[in-house]
Amino acid sequence: DNDGEPRGSKGKAFSEQESWEDQQIRKSQLEFRAKDRGRAGDEYEFVFDDAVEFVKAAAMAGTEPEDETDELGDEIDAKAMLQRELQDQRKTLPVYKFKDELLKAIAEHQIIIVVGETGSGKTTQIPQYLHEAGYTANGRKIACTQPRRVAAMSVAARVAQEMGVKLGHEVGYSIRFEDCTSEKTAVKYMTDGMLLREFLGEPDLASYGVVIVDEAHERSISTDILLGLVKDVARFRPDLKLLISSATLNAEKFSDFFDMAPVFKIPGRRYKLHVTQPPGGILLFLTGQEEIETVEEILRRRTRGLGTKIAELVICPIYANLPTELQAKIFEPAPPGARKVVLATNIAETSLTIDGISYVVDPRFCKVKSYSPRTGTESLLVQPISKASADQRAGRSGRTGPGKCFRLFTEHSYKEDMADETVPEIQRSNLASVMLSLKALGIDDIFDFVDPPASEGLLRALEDLFALGALNSHGELTKTGRRMAELPLDPMLAKAIVASERYGCSEEVLTIAVMLSAGNAVFYRPKDRALVADAARQRFNAGNAGDHVALLNVYTEWEQSGYSTEWCADHFVQSRTMRRARDVREQLEALLERVEIERRSCCGGDLDAVRKAITVGFFRNTAQRQRDGFYRTLKTWRTVFVHPSSGMARLDPPPRWVVYHELVETSNEYMRQVTELKPEWLLEVAPHYYQENNLDAPEPKKAKAAHGQGAAVATEKPSPSLNDFFKV
Ligand code: CDP
Ligand code: MG
Repeated sequence: DNDGEPRGSKGKAFSEQESWEDQQIRKSQLEFRAKDRGRAGDEYEFVFDDAVEFVKAAAMAGTEPEDETDELGDEIDAKAMLQRELQDQRKTLPVYKFKDELLKAIAEHQIIIVVGETGSGKTTQIPQYLHEAGYTANGRKIACTQPRRVAAMSVAARVAQEMGVKLGHEVGYSIRFEDCTSEKTAVKYMTDGMLLREFLGEPDLASYGVVIVDEAHERSISTDILLGLVKDVARFRPDLKLLISSATLNAEKFSDFFDMAPVFKIPGRRYKLHVTQPPGGILLFLTGQEEIETVEEILRRRTRGLGTKIAELVICPIYANLPTELQAKIFEPAPPGARKVVLATNIAETSLTIDGISYVVDPRFCKVKSYSPRTGTESLLVQPISKASADQRAGRSGRTGPGKCFRLFTEHSYKEDMADETVPEIQRSNLASVMLSLKALGIDDIFDFVDPPASEGLLRALEDLFALGALNSHGELTKTGRRMAELPLDPMLAKAIVASERYGCSEEVLTIAVMLSAGNAVFYRPKDRALVADAARQRFNAGNAGDHVALLNVYTEWEQSGYSTEWCADHFVQSRTMRRARDVREQLEALLERVEIERRSCCGGDLDAVRKAITVGFFRNTAQRQRDGFYRTLKTWRTVFVHPSSGMARLDPPPRWVVYHELVETSNEYMRQVTELKPEWLLEVAPHYYQENNLDAPEPKKAKAAHGQGAAVATEKPSPSLNDFFKV
């Protein structure tokens, strides 16, 4: 620690403010850290340097020729043996028997739907077959899209290993903010969102000879849009081969969509089912981080007292917000004699293959994002899963061996109560970001969707973009909109960045945007140290600066510490998230240059400028504290609460006006990431949206009766109709 040194204005401000309470926190942190030292298996110790480094290392193990020494002989033998083993394994996959037939079908048809159970080899093998068959000989690449980042990375690593090449050379992956490909890359695994972004620069996808839209059954928004786009491209690029791959049997829908494209079915493998339960990993599906952490704790406590006779349990949690290097842990084999338990959200439902899973426990629930275009809120609700999901989950056992699935629901409820399929994401999400990309692509017609989004949702998205100034009243992309579309961020964040230039604080707002995109994974809050962690977090909330500025403070202090890992540990900040944030920031810096946004810093001085820029993006997310003490959103009059994790939750008196990043709905509607605002800013930054009488208006009677719901439409300005934007 360089406490003796002056640390720049903000760092200093903090140390001057260090109260007795802060000192106590510091002390107890030190004690905890001292206790932790040397304790094996500390949940919060990071195991790998970097998740990507880890998968890369896994991919390269045994394939990279090193310098030529005498000892090399043995090593080469081992590598050759591993290769032989891998090649043998490839031949046992169900798809292998159909290789020639499949290649023949692809040669004869431009578009094919491939259906096969998870584990049959669709994702890892088909791109290799196509590569071997010469589809990349003309210098064009094979794209294989995945709905999830982890899947794109791990599958690419696996395939690189199978092909005996270095990851990023012939086989690579590309996910948002991370491009692991090179000139050489012929097989490119990427998130569906990345391919969408590539469309912006290359609307005919000329660098690709084959596009595989993988895991199409997941029906992510990006996948759905991709399907519409590639269908279009295929029409004017007869040389482009298109494969739509799906793990569930809803292939007819895709076939219909692609003008009756042929369906190629790969029969799954069958085992004799074991009657007993021999050793083997367990995969338990839970709904979210909190549930996973609770179960993890219970399991740890229960297994602690079991003694040495019972096999050790290796507990591996996995959820989207988990730092990636911890996610990577689930791919490690359990030590001999131990049993691996993976606690997962539905992230593990498809696309991830976890070795050695024999038992799946499915309690039938998952969290589903749902978006209400009327109120503009997105919420995560725990809902029963669909039949298709249940089958998918069951299929996760025995992928690399025989398996079994324990369903914690009855056959009756499976048959009678459960919906056949999950509603596609596009019908339950905020489409503003998607519409902005489409507009930037020059797509003005409502085009083909497998399942078209509700016009209410489309309209709401267009309204949002119009209110943000990304579209003009003819529905055309404005200059601001074009700049926003270049930034791979939520349109509101993109707008805040674009606006920050004017307020001379683009550096600060950029940092805040990066930190907000990092989600909830900035701080960690171990259960047994929750109070200390909370207090450490509270320290960043200098006064009532608000959560946005607190995030800025975290980053700035970390930067001033020389990007120190120690610093992160001391402050309960996830160092991996921070490192990623830094990485993302660098890439966004380059994009800012491209859209010619000048990088200027207000040097910690004018925080109002920063808050104002945030308000330019988030002026719709504002709430006013009423006489009854409750916050109500402006215009829509919903009763909302400050999220308990917010630094603003404990302010006394609470600020009257706030702007928030998002609403999350659990038992109540909570505002997350909250900052104080001056009402006159609203008139200044969004005069098209707020008039004087919107602010401080007495609560409408109707809304009171309806408990803050409804009444929204009545007070809104008439918005341009859908027909103004699209030829419907
Ligand atoms: O795409 P599909 O579900 O049909 O199968 P896949 O992902 O190509 O996986 C085929 C096999 O490759 C799996 O059963 C695993 O044995 C292996 N695999 C792996 O070991 N590691 C990965 N990251 C992916 C697949
Ligand atoms: Mg797959």
